[in-house]
Amino acid sequence: MNENTTPDPARAVPTPGDAELASRRQFLSRMSLTLGAACAGVVGAPALAFTVAPLFRRAPYAWRTVGQPKDFDVGKTINVTFEDPSPLPWAGVTARAGAWLRREPNDTFTAFSVHCTHLGCPVRWMPDANLFMCPCHGGVYYADGTVAAGPPPLPLFRYDVRVLAGNVQVKAAPIPITTTL
Ligand code: FES
Repeated sequence: MNENTTPDPARAVPTPGDAELASRRQFLSRMSLTLGAACAGVVGAPALAFTVAPLFRRAPYAWRTVGQPKDFDVGKTINVTFEDPSPLPWAGVTARAGAWLRREPNDTFTAFSVHCTHLGCPVRWMPDANLFMCPCHGGVYYADGTVAAGPPPLPLFRYDVRVLAGNVQVKAAPIPITTTL
């Protein structure tokens, strides 16, 4: 028969002080979690909003008058400039966008972005060659804006154009960023 009567500490009867200690620990643990979650929310919510907000923002656009039909000769492609609809406060002269505008024989207008679809360099219209040329990496586009040679992955971006109340207007909008990097 075992005469050992030493009490097992693990099975000791809890005292009212133990219960109070446990409940204080529980309270502090919950407070820590709550404060941690609140701090994470305060810091994380603005960062999350900043990251996802552009996904829900509609691209700004605006119709910009670039002249009257009589200002453009049929078949000629000329450079026009207009104000960007969403310039950054520090944009300076870059707040002005440009397009190559052509008056078609059927009295409609076609406007191409001046930005190469490779890395965005401004393309130039070469009337003698009937081509758009990019000076940066040798990109070449046909007169309809499709790629003829070089690294551009896409045709030149086209702006919508309309004639309203005797004015030729280009629908200025942010140019999609494309790159093959
Ligand atoms: S930016 Fe035009 S070819 Fe590279």
